Amino acid sequence: MSEKGLIAPHGGKLVNLVATGGRKAELEKAAGNMKRIRLPEREQCDLELLAVGAMSPLTTFMSDADFHAVCDKMRLANGLPWSMPVTCSVDKATGDAIDLGAQVALTDDKDRLLAVLTVEEKYLHNKKLEAEKAYGTTDDAHPGVAVVYAQGDVCLSGPLEVVTPRHDPAFLNYRLTPAQTRAKFAELGWKTAVAFQTRNPIHRAHEYITKCALEICDGLLIHPLVGETKGDDIPADVRMKCYEVLLANYYNAKNSLLATWPAAMRYAGPREAILHALVRKNYGCTHFIVGRDHAGVGNYYGTYDAQLLFDEFDPADIGITPLKFEHSFWCKKSGAMASDKTTNSTKEERVFLSGTAVREMLTKGQRPPVEFTRPEIADILIASMKG
Ligand code: ADX
Repeated sequence: MSEKGLIAPHGGKLVNLVATGGRKAELEKAAGNMKRIRLPEREQCDLELLAVGAMSPLTTFMSDADFHAVCDKMRLANGLPWSMPVTCSVDKATGDAIDLGAQVALTDDKDRLLAVLTVEEKYLHNKKLEAEKAYGTTDDAHPGVAVVYAQGDVCLSGPLEVVTPRHDPAFLNYRLTPAQTRAKFAELGWKTAVAFQTRNPIHRAHEYITKCALEICDGLLIHPLVGETKGDDIPADVRMKCYEVLLANYYNAKNSLLATWPAAMRYAGPREAILHALVRKNYGCTHFIVGRDHAGVGNYYGTYDAQLLFDEFDPADIGITPLKFEHSFWCKKSGAMASDKTTNSTKEERVFLSGTAVREMLTKGQRPPVEFTRPEIADILIASMKG
């Protein structure tokens, strides 16, 4: 526990890499003479998370020792649990041209300065190992693995100072840093807060599990991922409209908070679920929702693999408590949301729709059944598809 009675960040201390005042001006000036490295979108997202302490205890992109410990043992080199590599990589020619000890300017798509990295270490990016261990597959059809394969062959690490975590950030009113969500929880008097990670509009099953979780926690942090997602996922701006409408109509604003999570989606299933949980601990959450096929894609992971992976750790090492939910659905027999745990209904007595079926209905301008999606949400999605 930290001094305000909130859960301690992972590793004990909330990291803040953002330079201010004179130091910021110094870095901006010095960067003019540095080699510039344009970060791809995932790294830009990771940089913002590192900057604001969402990735605490990480203070920079991973070293070789951390990369290998994470891939092989799901731990940092210091022994703390950590499940996914967080790397800054460049192509070999660029890597060769950087001397150890040199400072490089990390920039965004428009070549605007984000951060200064003092390169203390260069190492070969073992992408195959990362794919196999962290994603459980080397298949380049996996959208998260494809991003790894597109990354550079040489990883850079060393002291990192951030000048601007993100230029033109979207959803400014909702973009709370870990320090800000922690302050908000303290102000609201929440001793326990459950985080809900999502990359989808909130359908009835999501609503059900978040409300079940809220029944046992003081507050709910609806924490949608708004960084890079694959092309056929619903864009974050459309989803934000859905969350706003749902919160205004079907949640109690006194104990539910909407804030964006500016991360890129890795689609790494179980390993990503652990990362999602550890990061939410940094935002001050004590509990974390893990439902069916968390962070999954296609058929790469078993429905409950993410839940099972939590059992491989000592709960004290993870710190945040996973709240595990069975696949839930509308049960016609009970006239309520339910799961295998709570109903004995037959398959025919359950409302189940695949993502593809829902997308087809929405594209045709049809609302899915209200037992699956609230009409207000369906209308937003239909309007967005008409473009
Ligand atoms: S995810 O990639 O962010 O996991 P999604 O937004 O669909 O995708 O899911 C958010 C959370 O809700 C995850 O914990 C997921 O396991 C859970 N979830 C999604 N659908 C269901 C469902 N029908 N029943 C139980 N849990 C679900």
